[in-house]
Amino acid sequence: MIRIDSVSKRYPDGTVAVDRLSLDIPDRAITVLVGPSGCGKTTTLRMINRMVEPSEGRILLDGEDVRERPVNSLRRSMGYVIQNAGLFQHRTIIDNIATVPRLLGTSKRVAREQAAELMERVGLDTALARRYPYQLSGGQQQRVGVARALAADPPVLLMDEPFSAVDPVVRKGLQDELLRIQDELGKTIVFVTHDIDEAVKLGTMVAVLRTGGHLAQFAPPAELLSDPADPFVEDFLGADRGIRRLSFFASGELALETAPVVPIDADAERISGAATAPYLLVTDTDGAPLGWAEPERIVAGSIDKDQLLSFGRPFRPGTDSLRTALDGAVLSPTGWAVAVDGDGRALGVVSQQAVGEAIRAAHDEHRTDAKAAG
Ligand SMILES: Nc1ncnc2c1ncn2[C@@H]1O[C@H](COP(=O)(O)OP(=O)(O)O)[C@@H](O)[C@H]1O
Ligand SMILES: [Mg+2]
Repeated sequence: MIRIDSVSKRYPDGTVAVDRLSLDIPDRAITVLVGPSGCGKTTTLRMINRMVEPSEGRILLDGEDVRERPVNSLRRSMGYVIQNAGLFQHRTIIDNIATVPRLLGTSKRVAREQAAELMERVGLDTALARRYPYQLSGGQQQRVGVARALAADPPVLLMDEPFSAVDPVVRKGLQDELLRIQDELGKTIVFVTHDIDEAVKLGTMVAVLRTGGHLAQFAPPAELLSDPADPFVEDFLGADRGIRRLSFFASGELALETAPVVPIDADAERISGAATAPYLLVTDTDGAPLGWAEPERIVAGSIDKDQLLSFGRPFRPGTDSLRTALDGAVLSPTGWAVAVDGDGRALGVVSQQAVGEAIRAAHDEHRTDAKAAG
């Protein structure tokens, strides 16, 4: 565990960048430091690997003051990733990634082999190995930065706004990739961002900092969204807090109705059996949803695909959240969300009203839990 113990940093010009910050950063999880520009995130991160020395307080790594550790071995145990990747422009991609292992005495051949494996791990085509950084897109360079930080297999990764300089689509890809890598590798990651959505998506724990390096709140993201500690945190979380919080509620317990789901080749009997529902969800013969139709408009065996109403965006019960289910219901012109399995086959449908009830039930559960926790 990394323990930040009442740490302050005053720069020589008198700026107090961090003010008596205490944080316990759990092992093998992603802890995000988030807050407005200038609130002391980078300073805090750099105090962990001693690129900046605290003015007061201490930082403990597994119980030992980081100042007791030789700075080289400390930094070797902590990969460091920054915005714009900070790659060596005159070295090829493969040699960028192999830099630290080479410094540690790994042979060129072995280091390059490992670097090629890392390229695959971070989702880079090994065909790029001999290129130079300027020949890669921003997103690809960022992946190289992550691969290079992982090369010495450090238990800790420090990441300072690593994805802030790329466009939103690439950024989402990098975030998903980081979560996947973390599932596989289980590093202790301290991730700095000014983007609260990124913090909520990536963090197991999120520390919200305010200007002057004051800790405003340290909590799991769901708790941040449900119970912001004060108006600053609430304001920083931004709009749609209620909707966004639904991302943390599972959709697995929604009761699905199967009667309104009819295959396109259904016979008249089957359709009249289902016809009590206001709309029927028509599927293809494999069960994939095609669209909605009013029962009286369906003539057995001759459903006109072009006349079906769009079914919005389907959700996967258990995998997707209540937010996705609600979105599906809101997008659907019938007000019913469509549930599908992993192969895209319709499992059933659920009304806006049923999603609303599930949301209320989740609130009740949260309230009971909060009471039980005191
Ligand atoms: N080397 C430095 N000397 C003086 N002031 C600094 C130095 N580095 C950062 N600061 C100041 O400390 C505060 C926190 O900076 P920083 O940790 O970089 O914040 P963040 O990463 O959250 O944007 C800011 O007011 C910044 O101007
Ligand atoms: Mg910064």
